[in-house]
Amino acid sequence: MDIVAVINYKGGVGKTTVTSNLAAELAFRGKKVLLIDTDAQASLTFSFVTPDEWDDKYKEAKTIKSWFDAVSQSSEPPCLTSFVIAPRSANEAVAGSGGRIDLICSHLGLINVDLELATLLGGVNIQQTKRNYIKVHGKLRSAIEELKVTTDYDIVLIDCPPNFNIVTKNAIVAAEKILIPAKPDYLSTLGIDYLHRSVNDLVREFNEYAQLDGDIEEISPDILGVVLTMIQITGGQPIAAQRQFISQTRRLGIKAFESFFRENKTIFADAPQNLRPVVLNHYSSGTHSDVVEEIEDFVTEFEASLDEAEL
Ligand SMILES: Nc1ncnc2c1ncn2[C@@H]1O[C@H](COP(=O)(O)OP(=O)(O)OP(=O)(O)O)[C@@H](O)[C@H]1O
Ligand SMILES: [Mg+2]
Repeated sequence: MDIVAVINYKGGVGKTTVTSNLAAELAFRGKKVLLIDTDAQASLTFSFVTPDEWDDKYKEAKTIKSWFDAVSQSSEPPCLTSFVIAPRSANEAVAGSGGRIDLICSHLGLINVDLELATLLGGVNIQQTKRNYIKVHGKLRSAIEELKVTTDYDIVLIDCPPNFNIVTKNAIVAAEKILIPAKPDYLSTLGIDYLHRSVNDLVREFNEYAQLDGDIEEISPDILGVVLTMIQITGGQPIAAQRQFISQTRRLGIKAFESFFRENKTIFADAPQNLRPVVLNHYSSGTHSDVVEEIEDFVTEFEASLDEAEL
């Protein structure tokens, strides 16, 4: 079971769009996928279920907020599987493939969870503070680890919010692999470098504190690479500036995917409302079919990168 966090500090770079399409295409290829929405904006959630359905059925007790609330209140939260739902429309579209998409929804109240978790940090002495740090940041990790033995998921994809709060750090600590969607512009390059360093700092700190407790395994998440989103196409090709951006990213020592998501407001903006990621709509020709093909290429490259990371 692969555990992948989709992250970037920057807002609106396409993290959620990449996550939903990746999940959909993997399920279409027969993979059993669990999506976890850790963003209080709940964009991933509302790309798969309607606000009405969420309000009626999931809001009270079936979101990642309910799970984190249980974490804050007791040392033994329920298994994550009690919070999983199966979005109907997307699963109908992948029916017959052997794959499926499950989802743990988010909740607008997730913002307050960070404050609750922060109260569990600290301690009477430095040792206790370090132990609490590991406990609080390692919660999601142990819960997802449990799924390796109790479920048949091939992959868990965690859609992160555009910040580096305790919930996001939980996602990074849980992740064995990290995927970074980014827009091809100068400020984004700076953001990627900063993100890379923050992830390294978190890993170093977690592992240093983990040494205090022989039972805690060290973490070493692998950065799978940067996938460029909102790429402008002219004459059937990405514009030259974007090729330059790919080289810049590689110079930072971070892998960059060859495949990309092109910019197309009409196609990408409507998909969440239809509860079906773009890649599940098949057209025989035209721009829509080019967009679908590009996403399929990305998923092929993504699957290869998972295999590489395992070598
Ligand atoms: N390739 C694309 N072309 C055009 N518009 C896009 C593309 N990808 C995403 N968008 C649009 O850009 C907006 C932001 O996308 P998305 O929600 O995926 O980004 P995000 O990084 O998850 O944002 P946030 O940081 O708020 O979580 C959405 O309105 C989405 O429809
Ligand atoms: Mg998002």
